[in-house]
Amino acid sequence: RQNERESLYIVLNFAKNFYQNQLQNSDEGQSIGLSYFRERGFTNEIRQKFELGYSLDIWDSFSKEALEKGYSAELLEKAGLLIPREGSSSGGYDRFRGRVIFPIHHVGGKVIAFGARILKSDSSSKANQPKYLNSPETAVYHKSDVLYGIFQAKNAIRQLDHCYLVEGYTDVISLHQAGIENVVASSGTSLTIEQIKLIGRFTPNVTILYDGDIAGIKAALRGLDLVLEEGLNVNIVLFPDGDDPDSYVRKVGAEAFKQYLKKASKDFITFKTEVLLQDAGDDPFRLAAVIGEVVSSIVKIPDAIKRQVFFRRTSEMMKVDEQMLITEGNKLARRLS
Ligand code: GTP
Ligand code: MN
Ligand code: MN
Ligand code: MN
Ligand code: MN
Repeated sequence: RQNERESLYIVLNFAKNFYQNQLQNSDEGQSIGLSYFRERGFTNEIRQKFELGYSLDIWDSFSKEALEKGYSAELLEKAGLLIPREGSSSGGYDRFRGRVIFPIHHVGGKVIAFGARILKSDSSSKANQPKYLNSPETAVYHKSDVLYGIFQAKNAIRQLDHCYLVEGYTDVISLHQAGIENVVASSGTSLTIEQIKLIGRFTPNVTILYDGDIAGIKAALRGLDLVLEEGLNVNIVLFPDGDDPDSYVRKVGAEAFKQYLKKASKDFITFKTEVLLQDAGDDPFRLAAVIGEVVSSIVKIPDAIKRQVFFRRTSEMMKVDEQMLITEGNKLARRLS
């Protein structure tokens, strides 16, 4: 219902202001939250831009204040901010406690959810807590439709006609601070069709920046045919093993980082072909499987001219006849349609 959605936006905005206020004006927020962000190298300016906050490490600091201000427990629960106490018809506790807070905005700028990071993953009392805690699905938050940072990035994406896609909140924030503002995060999940369409509203050109671990590479190969099908142009940059865009830009600085993006960027089809070829070695059967894999990605590209370019390029890479690839592609396309 329209009314409920409006109420949710209002209470979520209230919560955002509350967490920001706790970060900046409470003793605990300053000594723990602010110093955490400083250690990560975030400036005050970038903190404000992303409206970062802190939730006190007590059971009900937020809900107490919100209830006092007249928000109902029911609304707080529907907003994902209050967890009801089991077996009790009234009362509950704050979902986010003792964490730094990353508000998640929809494309128009309203706060729709929060991501909340534990401060130290090895802190004893929280040893088995997840690193990030997110809002649950609500009437205004569908995780699979959302890209973190889209509100802050959309103008830059449109202007530059290009979008970087990263994995995490802190990657988005660090890149903004380095002057790269056309960046959004999938927040750890594999890309959904809704997220791809959201990017497509602003540009057809996407470069995916992945963590340089094996999981990152495998993740890069999976699911990307979906992006090709949407007609987007996909490039990939892998980072040295163990680094993500946030850690890498802090390590090498903004200028070297931008140089690296230029140097290491590869179109998805070329990237995939290289990775699979390396995997297959000289084994002819595995080589045949690679050909099938690569062709199956190429035929997902809606534009015939682009398909042609990739048939030529990959035939050279795989040292097979271009016409044979095209014939295989046509067979596959007929089977798919
Ligand atoms: P930092 O460790 O703070 O630098 O975060 P990161 O963004 O580098 O984390 P990581 O690469 O491990 O994960 C990427 C993204 O996946 C995060 O930004 C989150 O959005 C999401 N994520 C990671 N861990 C968790 C988790 O434990 N729970 C949930 N719900 N999401 C997570
Ligand atoms: Mn949905
Ligand atoms: Mn990772
Ligand atoms: Mn990181
Ligand atoms: Mn990461």
